[in-house]
Amino acid sequence: MPKGTPDWRDFRNLSDIDFDHRYRLLVEAVQDYAIFMLDPAGQVTSWNPGAQRAKGYSPDEIVGKHFSVFYTAEDLAAGKPERLLADAGTHGRAEDEGWRVRKDGSRFWANVVITAVHDESGKLLGFAKITRDMSERRRLEELERAVATSARVQQARENEQKRIARELHDDLGQQITALKMTLALHEAELLPHIRSSAPGLLQSAREISGQVDAMAVAVRRIAADLRPPVLDDLGLEAALEWMTDGFRHRYGVAARCKLPTEELRLNDIAAISLFRVAQEALTNVARHARANTVLVTLSTDGKYCRLQVEDDGVGLPDDCTVRGNAFGLVGMRERMLQLGGVLSIDSRPGNGVSVTAQVPLEKILVEA
Ligand SMILES: Nc1ncnc2c1ncn2[C@@H]1O[C@H](COP(=O)(O)OP(=O)(O)O)[C@@H](O)[C@H]1O
Ligand SMILES: [Mg+2]
Repeated sequence: MPKGTPDWRDFRNLSDIDFDHRYRLLVEAVQDYAIFMLDPAGQVTSWNPGAQRAKGYSPDEIVGKHFSVFYTAEDLAAGKPERLLADAGTHGRAEDEGWRVRKDGSRFWANVVITAVHDESGKLLGFAKITRDMSERRRLEELERAVATSARVQQARENEQKRIARELHDDLGQQITALKMTLALHEAELLPHIRSSAPGLLQSAREISGQVDAMAVAVRRIAADLRPPVLDDLGLEAALEWMTDGFRHRYGVAARCKLPTEELRLNDIAAISLFRVAQEALTNVARHARANTVLVTLSTDGKYCRLQVEDDGVGLPDDCTVRGNAFGLVGMRERMLQLGGVLSIDSRPGNGVSVTAQVPLEKILVEA
């Protein structure tokens, strides 16, 4: 210790023995940090219960071993343990965050601080090493990253669907219309000539015309499923109404839509996300619920926007553990999470399912 630096032991009038005892008690009491000492060569010389808890070795198993056993094969190959010790030796301290290996071979994400310990004459006695298990925080960060990535992927997918829908509608749709008009012209011109000479040909031409009609309908339907134009042209409220009407006609279930009196000016992402939630919820009703009635409600209380899809069907099955390939509910949840909202699912057996998405308005309104 440099001359003139007060030693805090002096202030407390503790004897060295008292101090050592208290110091040991302190280190022994710490459970959340691995605190241990290394000799100058990197062999473990002391080991606290926190270290045992984090790394799995008892003191007998580890004291005397080289601290490189805590490092992964990649870090060993890169010479990381030696480098950290050399850094701590040169600068007095080295810090690192990375994977470490427990006794059982499992990995944990660690924050490590290595501090060089010198005696009064400046001779290196060894190193004090404090390791903290940061796995939880890292998991949280990874989760946040995954949510952000998934939001980007979702957005890219929506954009791509919008593009394909437009191409289908504007390009293929126009071509089919042109084809249909040409066919109609030919049909009119040919009619007097082939009615008697080739009635089979006439029948065939009419069939082709029918097929072209069916193609036009299919293209419109596929494009609208990819991205309903009504959503972009008239907004979420109109799109929900359009979807509910379609559902009623397609499945013969009494589906109704209740909308707020004043139009919500939602941003693009919010509108498509809420639309997709309603779309998935209605698809689930059609596939699983055996319902008689469905109510789609969009409402707001000035602070939150709520979208609810309620059916009176069979309800969720008791063992509704999410299957690996059941992305519907998971996807809805994720979309709401991305908007800073929540999705809740309420189900009473025999009384149907109610899916509610609630999102803070401030995140989803078009900025004025
Ligand atoms: N409205 C509903 N009524 C009854 N069961 C439902 C309803 N919505 C969802 N479920 C149940 O929840 C499960 C998970 O739904 P989801 O994640 O959308 O996956 P998928 O529709 O592909 O099966 C469904 O398989 C079904 O058993
Ligand atoms: Mg589904």
